[in-house]
Amino acid sequence: MAAPATPSATPTASAVGTVVVLAAGMGKRMLSERPKVLHEACGRPMLAWVLDAARELQPQRIVVVIGHGADEVKAAVAKSCGGVADVTFVVQQPQLGTGHALQVCLPALGSDPGVTVVLYGDMPCLRGSTVAQLAAARPVGGMSLLTAVPDEPRGFGRIVRDEHNRVQRIVEEKDADAAIRAIDEVNMGVYAFDGRVLVEELPKLSNANAQKEYYLTDVLAAFVRRGLPVESVELEDLEESLGVNTLQHLAEARWALQARILEGHMARGVQIEDPATAVIEHGVQIGVGTKILPFVVLRAGVTVGAHCEVGPFTHLRAGTVLRDGAEIGNFCEAKNTDLGEHAKAKHLAYLGDATIGAKANIGAGTIFANYDGKLKHKSIVGERAFIGSGTVIVAPNTIPAGATTGAGAVVAKNAPMQAGETWVGLPAKKHHKKGAG
Ligand code: UD1
Ligand code: MG
Repeated sequence: MAAPATPSATPTASAVGTVVVLAAGMGKRMLSERPKVLHEACGRPMLAWVLDAARELQPQRIVVVIGHGADEVKAAVAKSCGGVADVTFVVQQPQLGTGHALQVCLPALGSDPGVTVVLYGDMPCLRGSTVAQLAAARPVGGMSLLTAVPDEPRGFGRIVRDEHNRVQRIVEEKDADAAIRAIDEVNMGVYAFDGRVLVEELPKLSNANAQKEYYLTDVLAAFVRRGLPVESVELEDLEESLGVNTLQHLAEARWALQARILEGHMARGVQIEDPATAVIEHGVQIGVGTKILPFVVLRAGVTVGAHCEVGPFTHLRAGTVLRDGAEIGNFCEAKNTDLGEHAKAKHLAYLGDATIGAKANIGAGTIFANYDGKLKHKSIVGERAFIGSGTVIVAPNTIPAGATTGAGAVVAKNAPMQAGETWVGLPAKKHHKKGAG
């Protein structure tokens, strides 16, 4: 008989019922047609990072509020944000404020959504562990909110506390007088609510404020009015507070996320000589003992084995696999290419749609001409093949094991090369050694 599920002893992240991610905003200041939350940092949309944080809480469900570019956002969640199986989409049109965004979720939330956490789709640097800490700090029957003390509080809602240091309300900058503007503690917009109180209070919100918006922050005032406990958690790492509104903010967020990715690889035994010039996107796998030399770009969808050497100046694109001990560097690009164990491409090469065998040597200046103007074609290079400098391999093609091409050879497509042969010239032909039969 199956053992009954044991409830966890401590209040943990799994106690979260619903996470609501606000992602309806247009992001005017991005100066882009693309919905803001789909702008990418480290090879995936900002929203994917936020959904990762949401999923770390193991909520019963995730509600994503969409508006601008709703269909595009849905498609992107399905394709590159971990799928839609655990996601409910709610469309907010028009957008009348953060409180309104939650109001349109009311039918989806029902009368008891459980502990409800609110996140923003444009805060990709917020760690799941921080949100879990916030949820754990929520007093029973009450709410918790995330605050920060940034160098520059401009634009944020200010946290107003009473003489006992208890949070009383949040005042938006546009509604604030000089005294309130002088408060340096600000609202991050991230909360964990008692779900039942939240759904009771949402319909009561008013838009009588400077922006004529329904403010979610007014729900906090309602908790206080009802005498329900409110706890705050102050962000320790201000990098997590970054809300992306401009392309400059996006670059700052990317930088922060990149540093985390690189730290992860280094902690797992990957040597990165110059982290300042290594672009390694989300999900790239790298084996232990591999050296990443300066100026390397490893796009999402790349796998690098153990004890490889990559760079300097190397661009590996999606679908590229380096087998253990492979080496590629010095102005090489690879796309959708499998470079075999201990195979080398050390200078000025383009490896596109190729499968290259173990210990093959790809000479300087080799080009896999994979595109005929209409379609991409594959090439295969056998084990220990030796591709001479400046060879062009016109795809589709198979260079058999142990075969050689001479410097500057242009191997026309589907060349009938046999194992161990040497081909030279333009177009390349089988080379007969002098004196040989
Ligand atoms: C809000 C908070 C403010 C806090 C700040 C932190 C309110 C009233 N104010 O400010 O106290 O300091 O966040 O960043 O909540 N969104 C929707 N639908 C809407 C409005 C917003 O989905 O109708 C989304 C936006 O896309 C964005 C997020 O909610 O991701 C925050 O909206 P934004 O307008 O940037 O926040 P503020 O209202 O300025
Ligand atoms: Mg606003």
